[in-house]
Amino acid sequence: MSRDEMPRASLPADALSLPGRYYTDPDHYRREMERFFLGGWAHVGRQEEIPSPGDYMLREVAGESLILVRGDDGDPHAFFNVCRHRGTRLCEAASGNFAGYIRCPYHAWAFDLSGRLVAAPQMDDLPHFRREDYPLVSAAVAAWDGHVFVNPSGNSRPLPEHLGCLPERFRPWGMDQLRLGKRTTYDVAANWKLLIQNYSECLHCPGVHPALQRLTHFLSGENEPANDGYLGGRMSLREGIETLTMDGTLRRPCLPGLSEADRRMVLYYAILPNLLLSLHPDYVMTHTLYPRAVNRTEIVCEWHFHPEAMSAPDFSPEDAASFWDLTNRQDWHVCEQMQLGVGSVAYRPGPYSSREDLLHGFDRLVRVDG
Ligand code: FES
Ligand SMILES: [Fe+2]
Repeated sequence: MSRDEMPRASLPADALSLPGRYYTDPDHYRREMERFFLGGWAHVGRQEEIPSPGDYMLREVAGESLILVRGDDGDPHAFFNVCRHRGTRLCEAASGNFAGYIRCPYHAWAFDLSGRLVAAPQMDDLPHFRREDYPLVSAAVAAWDGHVFVNPSGNSRPLPEHLGCLPERFRPWGMDQLRLGKRTTYDVAANWKLLIQNYSECLHCPGVHPALQRLTHFLSGENEPANDGYLGGRMSLREGIETLTMDGTLRRPCLPGLSEADRRMVLYYAILPNLLLSLHPDYVMTHTLYPRAVNRTEIVCEWHFHPEAMSAPDFSPEDAASFWDLTNRQDWHVCEQMQLGVGSVAYRPGPYSSREDLLHGFDRLVRVDG
C-alpha cells in the first residue's frame, strides 16, 4: 500500500472522550454485547484449530457458549451449546473431536455435525414429535484468510461487507498460509472499548512503551478514517529497524508476498468488535478480545508465522512474543488505570488530540446518544 493510496482521518475541534457510564454501567455493557457481539461478527479463532470433520472448539461470546465445529462438508459451523431437549450444555471440554455426532450427556439426544437431530431416545413414539423440528440453534460463521468469525444473531450483513477493502489490501501478508507459533492469554480489568481505544493511538508510546518507541517513532503513524467495520493505520519502522522484536532485527525471512514498502511498516487494524490485527514484516499478531464484564476483558494474543520459517530447526517465536508480551502488559496496565479513573465521580469527558482521531471515529460508532 503506497502512502497516497490511504485516505487520511480527521478530527473535529470539539471531540471529547466518552462519558463514564460507557465504561462502568452493567446495563450499558449488556446492550453493547447484544449490539456489537451477538449482532456483529465476533472473531473466535483460526481455521487451523479445527482442521478435520468433527474437530471443535468452544467459545464464549457475550455470555453465550458457542460450539465451532468442522462439518462433514469441510466448512466450519457454529451452534449454541444448548440441547434442544431440555436445554443442557451439550459440551464442556474446551476443544476436541465429536466423532460424527454431538451427543447430549443428559438423555443422549444426538445431533449430526450440521446440527440435525438424529437420535432422541423414547421420543419417536410420541405422535406429533418430528426430529426435524429440533435442530441445534445455529450462529452464522464466516472465515477470512484463516480467521474465523461468528455472528450469533445471524442478522449481520455479510462478513465481506463488514471487512470492506481489507481482504484485498492485506492479501500480500498471506494470512491464510500462516500458522500459530505462540499464544498467551491475559485477563485485564478494563472495559473492552478502552482496549480498542488504547490500541488505536500511539500518543502514549513514548511514555508507556520505551522499547517500542526505539523501533517506531510514535509520530510516524498515519490513520485512515474509521468506518463501521474497522479502524486502523500504519506506522513506519525506524531507519535500520527490520521488525518489532526486542532488538529490531529479523530472525526469519519477511513474509513472501510483501513489497519493499510493506516491509518497512507495521499495520494496526481493529476489526470491530474484537479483533486487533497487527501485520509485521515477518509475522502477524492477533489480539482477540472477549469481554467478560463491564470492567473485565479476556484477551487471547497469538503470533502467527509462515510455515517455512517455522520449519527451520532454530525457529522460535520468542523474539516477537517477548517483545509484545512486555508491550501488552504495559498497555493492560494503563487500561486498568484508566478503568479506575473513568469510574470516579471526578471523571468527565476530556478533549482528544489530533493523534487520537481514530478514537473519536470509534466513539461515534459506539455512541447511543448522538
Ligand atoms: S437435555 Fe439434552 S438430552 Fe435431555
Ligand atoms: Fe500501547
